[in-house]
Amino acid sequence: MKIAVIGGGYVGLVTAACFAHLGHEVSIVEVDAGKVRAINAGEPPIYEEGLEELLTAHAGKTLVAGTEYGPVADADLSFICVGTPPAGDGSADLSYITAACRSIGEALRGRTKTHTVVVKSTVPPGTTENLVVPTVGVASGRNDLGFAMNPEFLREGRAVDDFLHPDRIVIGSADPAAGNSVAAVYRGIDAPAVRTGTTAAEMIKYASNALLATKISYTNEIGNLCKRLGIDVYEVMQGVGLDKRVSPHFLNAGAGFGGSCFPKDVAALIHLAEKQGEDPVLLQSVMEVNRRQPLRMVGILKERVGDLNGKKIAVLGLAFKDGTDDIRESRAVPVIEALLEGGAAVAAYDPLAVPNMRRVFPQIEYCARAAEALAGADACLLMTEWPEFSRLDGEFDLMKSRVVIEGRRVLSCDGKEGICW
Ligand code: UDX
Repeated sequence: MKIAVIGGGYVGLVTAACFAHLGHEVSIVEVDAGKVRAINAGEPPIYEEGLEELLTAHAGKTLVAGTEYGPVADADLSFICVGTPPAGDGSADLSYITAACRSIGEALRGRTKTHTVVVKSTVPPGTTENLVVPTVGVASGRNDLGFAMNPEFLREGRAVDDFLHPDRIVIGSADPAAGNSVAAVYRGIDAPAVRTGTTAAEMIKYASNALLATKISYTNEIGNLCKRLGIDVYEVMQGVGLDKRVSPHFLNAGAGFGGSCFPKDVAALIHLAEKQGEDPVLLQSVMEVNRRQPLRMVGILKERVGDLNGKKIAVLGLAFKDGTDDIRESRAVPVIEALLEGGAAVAAYDPLAVPNMRRVFPQIEYCARAAEALAGADACLLMTEWPEFSRLDGEFDLMKSRVVIEGRRVLSCDGKEGICW
C-alpha cells in the first residue's frame, strides 16, 4: 500500500522504516530538510537499534522523505506522527497535530482516491473525533475520508523491535472500513488486534503509560519503606512480580521515571481528568512520588557526607535511561540542580548524553570516563542504568571517600548503597 508518514521523528521514522520493511511504499513528510537529506541518504538522524539497517535496505527505494505534503494525495493512508509536547498547564500542545491535519486536507482537496487519515501521535482522548476529523474535513472539502487512531507503544532505544514485535495492535475507528485499511497495513505482524472507537484507542495509550508509571512510583514507595526496614525491595518485588496478575516488569525501584513520555502523558491525563471534573488523586500521587524520588539521593548523600558546600560529587549517568542520549526529564537533572544549590562541585560522566546535558548545565565538569569523574570525589551518585557501570570497582578507590549511592540497581561491587535498597 502507499503510505504517507507525517513527521520524521523517533516515532515517524521508525514507523515509516518498519512499514517499508513490511513491503509498503512509504513517503515521510518532514519539515526539517536536514533530517530529510539524512533519511534519503540512509543515515538515521536518531539512534535506534536496527533502524540503520532498515534505512540502508529501503531509503531511496520504497522509503522516500521530503518536506512537501504532495505524496499524501496518492497515498492510501496518512499516519500522523508529529509531536504533542506538554503545554505550560500540563495539557498536550496539539498545534502540530492541527497543522498536519490542515496540510493533509489541502493535499487531498479535489482528489477522489479513497484515503484514511490515521493518528499515531499520543493525543488526549477525543482529539481524533473533535479536532482531526473536522480539521481535515474543512481543509479537504471532502466527507468521504476514513479516520482511525493507532497508538504506538515504542520504547526509546528499542523502538524497531517493539514495532515489529508488539504485544498488541490497537486500532480505533468509527467506520470499520477505515479500521480494516489500517489492519491491512500491519499484515505480516503477528499480534492480537484490539478494534475499538478512536477515543477508546487514545485512552488505551494514556492508560497504558500511566499504569506503567504507577507501577514505578508504587515500587519506589515500597522501596523507600523497605530501606527503612533494612530489607531489599528487589527481593520483595521479585516475590510480588511472580503473580501473573502483576507481572515482573516495571517493578525496578530507583530514582524514578524520566523520558519524553511518562511525565508528559501522566500530566496530560491529570489535566484531562481535572477538566472533566474528576480529582485524579492517584495519578497526582504518582507524579509527586516521582518528583520527590531523585531528591532522596541528595538526602542520603547529606546524611553520609554532611554539608555539600565545597565537596566534589561525581554523577555517573545523565540520560533518562541506558541506551539513549536523551536527557528529557532525566532524574539526573533535579539531582544536579540540588547539588549545585548545596554548593557542591559536580563532575559528570555519561557514555552518550554529555553533549545534551552540557546545554543544560554548562557550568559543571564533564569527564570522558567514569574514573575521571570519581578521582578525588567525596561521593558518587549513579543515575542511569548503563551496563558498563556494573563493571566499576577499583575506580571507586580513586575517590577521596568511598561514598557510593546508586539510583539504579546496576553496581556489582561492594561498598555501595541504593536509593531504596
Ligand atoms: C515508555 C513506555 O515504555 C513505552 O511503551 C511508551 O511508548 C513510551 O514511554 P520510554 O519512555 O522510552 O518508553 O522508556 P522506558 O523504558 O519505559 O523507561 C521509562 C523510565 O522509567 C526510565 O527513566 C526508566 O529508567 C524508568 N523505569 C523503567 C524505572 O524506573 N523502573 C522500571 O521498572 C522501568
